Amino acid sequence: MFYSAIRNVFFKFDAETIHEMTIKALKNTGKTPFRAAYCQSVPNKPVTVMGIDFPNPIGLAAGLDKNGECIPAFSSMGFGFVEVGTVTPRPQPGNEKPRIFRLPEANAVINRMGFNNKGVDYLVDQVRKAQFTGVLGINIGKNKDTPEENAKDDYIHCMQKVYNFATYITINISSPNTPGLRSLQYGDALNELLSALKNEQKALAEKYGKYVPIAVKIAPDLTEPEVESIAECLIQNNIDGVIATNTTLSREGVEGLEHGEEQGGLSGAPVKEKSTQVIKLLAKALDNKLPIIGVGGISCGADAKEKIEAGAKLVQVYTGFIYKGPELIKDVVKAL
Ligand SMILES: Cc1cc2nc3c(=O)[nH]c(=O)nc-3n(C[C@H](O)[C@H](O)[C@H](O)COP(=O)(O)O)c2cc1C
Repeated sequence: MFYSAIRNVFFKFDAETIHEMTIKALKNTGKTPFRAAYCQSVPNKPVTVMGIDFPNPIGLAAGLDKNGECIPAFSSMGFGFVEVGTVTPRPQPGNEKPRIFRLPEANAVINRMGFNNKGVDYLVDQVRKAQFTGVLGINIGKNKDTPEENAKDDYIHCMQKVYNFATYITINISSPNTPGLRSLQYGDALNELLSALKNEQKALAEKYGKYVPIAVKIAPDLTEPEVESIAECLIQNNIDGVIATNTTLSREGVEGLEHGEEQGGLSGAPVKEKSTQVIKLLAKALDNKLPIIGVGGISCGADAKEKIEAGAKLVQVYTGFIYKGPELIKDVVKAL
């Protein structure tokens, strides 16, 4: 009720302006008494995944808190885990504005942000200051101007920087807004990247005396053989988890709507079935060898349950959270 009133005001303004204002407000209030405005208690539903103990299975998906500025605020809303990023080695502005569009008739968003972020050093500084004791995922990517053949160096650079501060690290190879990024999901390119990251993880585990799991985030726009081949590569490289999925390039479900033709990744209700399909294919191919984190179009408890029934052990939300607010976290926890 309270959030829907706020949302009606928010939705009168440009999406990115409201996003920036909200991030600023959450950043400034996360550790103050003003957080009472959004703080809520959520029942405990503990689950252990990738060797990590989660207080409940619903997390904030990557992209909302790209610079890790609002970790205490999101945690106080009841999320069982918070994933920050995608962060790149160097700061970069992202694509030209406008680059995020709401499609309320479809409970959807199209974005072509292009990894706008303040760089990994800034993010690490924020994480350090937050002194967060909950489960924190840090999602890493490559800079736009790093050639594809050097992508691995960007991931390794970020991994070295964030390793000591993350509960798990997500390798994002599925955003549609960085040219060439999605090609890292296939064949030799994937195998080379994952084996390099696994070697780095081993070295960092020795250096810091702790094992930080790696999850790989994949796209919804994959054929069955492609999902099978990714699953095989994840198993072969002993990857700890997989996040399915990112946004879609498909425009199914938004044809004819205002902004429906905008370039970028489509999220929210229209990606729900596609993501669930990928989770089902992954679950079959992975045969429980590594856990799946399900994300894409969750806007109520029943949607989250669908993802779990398809084979996910944890879920994440982004677009549904924009439309429903913190109440969604409670709904999901109650339903699971
Ligand atoms: C505006 C926006 C920005 C996003 N940025 C990122 C990002 O930086 N890294 C990432 O891995 N996913 C990013 N995502 C994808 C979400 O994390 C999620 O995988 C996707 O939107 C599907 O979930 P949803 O339907 O609940 O939004 C972004 C999504 C949106 C809507």
